[in-house]
Amino acid sequence: MKEIDWANLSFGYMKTDYNVRINFRNGAWGELEVSSEEYLNLHMAATCLHYGQEAFEGLKAFRGKDGKVRIFRLEENAARLQSTCQGILMAELPIERFKEAILKVVKLNERFIPPYETGASLYIRPLLIGTSAQVGVHPANEYMFVVFVTPVGPYFKGGFSTNPYVIIREFDRSAPLGTGIYKVGGNYAASLRANKKAHELGYSCEFYLDAKEKKYIDECGAANFFGIKDNTYITPKSTSILPSITNKSLMQLAEDMGLKVERRPVPEEELATFEEAGACGTAAVISPIERIDDLENGKSYVISKDGKPGPICTKLYNKLRGIQYGDEPDTYGWVTIVE
Ligand SMILES: Cc1ncc(COP(=O)(O)O)c(C=O)c1O
Repeated sequence: MKEIDWANLSFGYMKTDYNVRINFRNGAWGELEVSSEEYLNLHMAATCLHYGQEAFEGLKAFRGKDGKVRIFRLEENAARLQSTCQGILMAELPIERFKEAILKVVKLNERFIPPYETGASLYIRPLLIGTSAQVGVHPANEYMFVVFVTPVGPYFKGGFSTNPYVIIREFDRSAPLGTGIYKVGGNYAASLRANKKAHELGYSCEFYLDAKEKKYIDECGAANFFGIKDNTYITPKSTSILPSITNKSLMQLAEDMGLKVERRPVPEEELATFEEAGACGTAAVISPIERIDDLENGKSYVISKDGKPGPICTKLYNKLRGIQYGDEPDTYGWVTIVE
């Protein structure tokens, strides 16, 4: 194998040795299969291809200073996948089977887990798709669960830094009673135009308001939003936001640090009052926000006056990364050690 340049990994796909699969047929999940094949053999009328019966997850494994490999909040990702399955009527994979598959695929690809010093990690991508042939719009009766892994670099190449965001009013990511709360591919297809526009305008990412009233904050691209003011961690409550596992973890850590935590509708104007703000998710942990521009209203909410991450964002970031890499105690049992 060609040596991997751990220090220069991007957030991209790299072939690893194995993936794992479990098929659902005749009303039951089968045995776990190990494969080295990167392609899937699919029926051209599979429901995932036509009617979007597709769910995915994203989580990470980290190699610690002690050489141990830790997977962050495995059960939470398993539960969110089940919730997505309920949302688009797919067969639910039991939590134990999800765990079995993730542990197996991580262990089989152990040589791809980046060394501690690099700040890189192993990204784990579970995928669940409807595979049986169907022409009418109905749920499939056969499903495939696949998990592959790929090493990914640290999100902040030049160090932990702030980014500018732009409110895009022209496109919605998800409807108030739609699939935004589920991790389905269709939401990401719906976000591509807004994301492209934000990049063309020179922003790091698009920022969504609620689709119905365009009054409240929803999400920052493929990440949740939080703002900090008056010793309070504030994150939007809405029916179209994906429940981020990173956000859930940060709410707990914020509380442990003595902050108040509020989850409630956050009107756009409140952006002017935050002392710090961040986008949070598995990829970045926290991506501190420099400013959010609302071009149509001619407003610019400058959150970081000096362009640097604020002290609370930095503390939360270091704490969460510390737990993930095993440098900080895992008080809540968030980490599964790969034996
Ligand atoms: C739309 C969206 N929101 C939020 C998140 C962050 O979720 P998590 O912290 O579970 O990675 C993600 C990424 O998974 C996402 O795709």
